[in-house]
Amino acid sequence: MGGMVNSLFHPRHLALVPAAGSGSRMGSGTPKQYLPLLGEPLLRHTLRALCEAPAIDRVYVVLSVGDQEWDRHDWSGLGPKLRPLFNGGASRADSVLNGLRVIGDEVAADDWVLVHDAARPCLAPWHIEKLVRTLAGCDVGGLLAVPVADTLKRADARGCAVETVPRDSLWQAQTPQMFRYQMLRRALESARDVTDEASAIEAAGLHPRLVAGDPTNLKVTFPLDLHLAEWILQHRES
Ligand code: CTP
Ligand code: MG
Repeated sequence: MGGMVNSLFHPRHLALVPAAGSGSRMGSGTPKQYLPLLGEPLLRHTLRALCEAPAIDRVYVVLSVGDQEWDRHDWSGLGPKLRPLFNGGASRADSVLNGLRVIGDEVAADDWVLVHDAARPCLAPWHIEKLVRTLAGCDVGGLLAVPVADTLKRADARGCAVETVPRDSLWQAQTPQMFRYQMLRRALESARDVTDEASAIEAAGLHPRLVAGDPTNLKVTFPLDLHLAEWILQHRES
């Protein structure tokens, strides 16, 4: 590992974008990463944000093995950082781990990997810059997240509130989630049933840093989210 890497530029920052899901909650025939958003595939907005970030050296996108859509679009405008990988897995965690494994020969153990959901097309330059800057001297790594604003209730089986959960120390996890290549790969290999990278790192006994982002970096999950994403992108300054 790392033989081809110029040590002058260590550590590098590599983005890894899981984009092998089917988008079942969107209820559309087309996987949501390819749905049109302001006239281009949703995924193109996501990848552009990462490819245009000066801090990011390379952008891997993990597509499903049977992806029929990628080749129908022109991605050349996104520049030379972009690398498609056709080896997605059955879950998001599998897709991420498959991606990490296949790039093993071209990364160093301490390179930073920023895992970012394909379904978050409103990632802004300041989100990436703040994450990279805040974690630069960090041993473990961390993630963008937002403090919970609503009052939280625990429900019983009938859907009645039985308890109000204090929200003071609760955060909603977003992506990118940024960890060192080797630490992340080992953590995911030992903790497979996780919904994000940070939980695998936590399961290894480490404490990812929560870096405050904002709610505009939403995940497109339901049809309404596509309209919200469109509004956010249209109303963004610059
Ligand atoms: N993802 C992936 N491989 C999978 C499942 C999900 O790469 N086997 C990716 C999705 O493409 C998405 C990200 O992980 O960019 C976050 O997952 P989610 O929002 O749950 O997307 P889907 O799984 O596609 O949607 P749904 O759960 O509604 O089916
Ligand atoms: Mg899913």
